[in-house]
Amino acid sequence: MYCIRNVREDLFWVGADDRRLSCFEGVYGVPDGVSYNSYLLLDEKTVLFDTVDKAVYSVFLENVAHGLAGRPLDYLVVHHMEPDHAATLELLVERYPEAKIVCNAKIKTMLAQFFSMDLTERLVLVKEGDSLSTGRHNLSFVMAPMVHWPEVMMTYDSTDRILFSADAFGTFGALNGRLFADETDFFGEHLDEARRYYTNIVGKYGPQVQAVLKKAAALEIAYVCPLHGFVWRSHFGDYLEKYLLWSSYTPEEQSVLLAYASVYGHTENAANILAALLNERGVRVRMYDTSVTPASYIVSDAFRCSHLVFAATTYNAGVFVTMEDLLHDIAAHNLQNRKVALIENGSWAPTSGKVMRELLSGLKGITYISDNLTLKSALREDQLPQLETLADAIAAELCPAPAVVEAAVPADGGFTPDAVDNKVFSKFSYGVEVLTTRVDGKDYGCIINTAGQVASCDPKKITISVIKKNHTCDMVAKAGRFNISILTEDAPYSVFQHFGFQSGRDVDKFADLPWDVRMSNGIRYIPEYTNAVLSCEVIDVKDVETQVLYIANVVEAKVLSNAPSCTYGYYHAHIKPKKNPAPEQKECWVCKVCGYVYEGAELPDDFVCPLCKHGKDEFEHVVPVEKKKEKGYVCAICGHFEPCEGELPEDYVCPICHHGREDFEPAER
Ligand code: FEO
Repeated sequence: MYCIRNVREDLFWVGADDRRLSCFEGVYGVPDGVSYNSYLLLDEKTVLFDTVDKAVYSVFLENVAHGLAGRPLDYLVVHHMEPDHAATLELLVERYPEAKIVCNAKIKTMLAQFFSMDLTERLVLVKEGDSLSTGRHNLSFVMAPMVHWPEVMMTYDSTDRILFSADAFGTFGALNGRLFADETDFFGEHLDEARRYYTNIVGKYGPQVQAVLKKAAALEIAYVCPLHGFVWRSHFGDYLEKYLLWSSYTPEEQSVLLAYASVYGHTENAANILAALLNERGVRVRMYDTSVTPASYIVSDAFRCSHLVFAATTYNAGVFVTMEDLLHDIAAHNLQNRKVALIENGSWAPTSGKVMRELLSGLKGITYISDNLTLKSALREDQLPQLETLADAIAAELCPAPAVVEAAVPADGGFTPDAVDNKVFSKFSYGVEVLTTRVDGKDYGCIINTAGQVASCDPKKITISVIKKNHTCDMVAKAGRFNISILTEDAPYSVFQHFGFQSGRDVDKFADLPWDVRMSNGIRYIPEYTNAVLSCEVIDVKDVETQVLYIANVVEAKVLSNAPSCTYGYYHAHIKPKKNPAPEQKECWVCKVCGYVYEGAELPDDFVCPLCKHGKDEFEHVVPVEKKKEKGYVCAICGHFEPCEGELPEDYVCPICHHGREDFEPAER
């Protein structure tokens, strides 16, 4: 009996699930099965896109026959000749002798290699940019060599904006009746298997995937129909973001993969202690025993994590076999740009560290955090400091958790207030920028005026300083990366209000923005009222009391326009509306940056504007014509005055800084 689903009114999924396959390609375990996708278009001409694996040929042929409902099959488009998609091709074309086979020259060669049937007369050869009209639909062909074999191509249906993407954007796992990614909790339940699929199947071919992603970026895409896994019709940008990271060998998260190979448990013991030390320092660790977890899972997390620690015993004067297999696999998949640490063990001649280094030696962008740490049979008490040093070094490389930032000690040695004229600081010429980042699929951003280049070596280095109370500050610490969009003089005040005067804790600043553009790191940037954008990877963090200073490598940068950059001075002189407090206003302090009004006669020296986070220097003291006393409570954190004749309610929360009533004191104004 057939089992098909509509993708659109005239496009059908006619593939099948396989839950009995133990090893995909004979090597990758697929405990959740796999789907082989084929699609049937019923236009004036009928078109089948790809066939399926021989394991599911029976239901596939029923699906095609049912979908055609007696019509002839005019075209079979072949995107990929790997037998999980082409094994049933010969069977199919025998059954539909009128069908023309649309493919490229490399596919033609492979057809002759795989099949004895002479198909030459039935071929319609296409190349990059060629198109085929099937009636209402117009199909064009996009070559995608090495995603995943050299002959691979994709088809773009410009009528309904559908990309038939071959192996790209697929995932392991049977569909189980769900065809669309939005019928599942994809990022919660399927992302790990999607990552394992990508990294193991096409992880080696990052540059080729990037080339195809560039071509896809020029297309308007409403649907993506891959050969495995779910069809995308919404939120495809979130998945594309992952592909941009994976294919550029950019870590998905600032974390540690800790994989160990241990025969009698002593190496495992050292790995466990290191994992504990790392966790104590706030570092996220993903840990595997290479003798237990199949390599495909560990390879997948090696693409995910920024730092890799491999610990292995010496074996046959080399490295233990399961670690050797893993590192061969990682090297074969061309992983790049990772920080690595090695722990070797050996009872008489430890060599595993040297061999592990050799196995990774061909990979680009691999840097070692420290020298190999050597164990002789077992970790001794006096070697604990070595593990602690390694844990410290890794923790220092990763972005510290916000708690670590908060714990830093203020440094005010030699400071006397009278010696510093604060007006000096308005003599600096600051730019104004929108800082953006992304954590767990959510976008964050705020205004800063502190970005500047600090080193011209490659990669170039910049610093930004962000007010700790800004939510974006915490998010940059978590993400370990950010974008800077440099604002221009034509930026309207609304841009400053939008990013500067509200908090990402309360609102999604990106929900209704007219722009949805991202750099390769998946983080959004602001394409209008800006003249340049930079993507940065955090390499160091310093606590500077009210602010956090991030030092970062610039990994991507582009000029957007030649409009002059907006300086902080220009903003004050020409963009910020002038405030004219009404004469009947109560005595207050008005923020010259954002207009926030602090009501009260005295503004604390350490007051920070709850909206734009500027300090007392930016406030103007406004003395009213008359003072009226009003009873209430004042927030000791942000200075918010809450009028109240009696007691504040027990569950009262400050509307400005969100502290509870325990931080309020009775006051009059
Ligand atoms: Fe799903 Fe490369 O075949």
